[in-house]
Amino acid sequence: MTMPQFAFFKGQIVPYSEAKVGVLTHTLNYGTGAFGGIRGYWNSEAEELYVFRIRDHYRRFLDSARLLCMELPYSIEDLSHTTIELLRTERHRTDCYVRPLAYFSDETIGVRLHGLHPEVSIVSFPFGSYVTNEEDLHAAVSSWTRVDDNVIPARGKIVGSYINSALAKTDAQRGGYDEAIVLNHNGHISEGSAENFFMIRNGVAVTSRITDNILEGITRRTMMMLLREELDVPVEERAIDRSEVYLAEEAFFCGTGVQMAAITSVDRRPIGTGKIGPVTAKLRRLYFDVVRGKVQKYRSWCTPVYQSGAVAATA
Ligand SMILES: Cc1ncc(COP(=O)(O)O)c(C=O)c1O
Repeated sequence: MTMPQFAFFKGQIVPYSEAKVGVLTHTLNYGTGAFGGIRGYWNSEAEELYVFRIRDHYRRFLDSARLLCMELPYSIEDLSHTTIELLRTERHRTDCYVRPLAYFSDETIGVRLHGLHPEVSIVSFPFGSYVTNEEDLHAAVSSWTRVDDNVIPARGKIVGSYINSALAKTDAQRGGYDEAIVLNHNGHISEGSAENFFMIRNGVAVTSRITDNILEGITRRTMMMLLREELDVPVEERAIDRSEVYLAEEAFFCGTGVQMAAITSVDRRPIGTGKIGPVTAKLRRLYFDVVRGKVQKYRSWCTPVYQSGAVAATA
């Protein structure tokens, strides 16, 4: 991984080496933080870096912080503009990743969310694929259960809850799989360790409901729209049984990090033909054109970094 050169830290852009916290920092000890993951895509023909759905990412970032009772002195616009400024300072001419973090900077002992001081840091760095085999992923149903809304709200991107994801991911990989599919307390499919889940069954794209303890994914919403509007594939949000997945024609994960990855087997059972399916393949191609700003209809989702202009307002 290429390290960032700069960071937005304590209200200003500083060299990355100066963005440091003490070991007693509250969030470092108790996981009391919220974060985001945003991608910038380099379009070589346009010589432009496009940030995908930046406002939607910062809306969820602020919502996640609110779940932790953090009162941040920044709006969606502030955070979006700061991010563009940071990316310009980094001068990326390649695909990159942006990591905002809201954390309690207090160096103190005591588990709580109140009476603490939140801070925001943002860094960015060049970033390619998160998984190597995006067209042929082997997944396993995890023996870990997804965090429940009454345990740690899964809809927010909350630092501490990623222990749940890490447990599932490590066990899947140590067991010889690429990724985990995590069930919720009711035994229904929730999502992957860091990505939302879709299957194609009887020609319908099915994804878990937002009340099934999933992160409210922005890529998931993007895929739902592209499936309906561009591929003419109906989409259902509903509870999904484990055994339905075994019988699905196709399945895939999606998320900012993983982008879109075809799941070709689950628990060593082939999904459909055991190869990437036609809907998944078509959607993948379309998704990469959309995020690189090549599809005019969805250009409002892509904020140009180098061209001056307002931060794209997206639905
Ligand atoms: C647990 C989890 N689910 C789903 C996603 C996908 O969300 P998004 O598409 O907003 O990146 C992520 C990625 O950030 C995640 O960490």
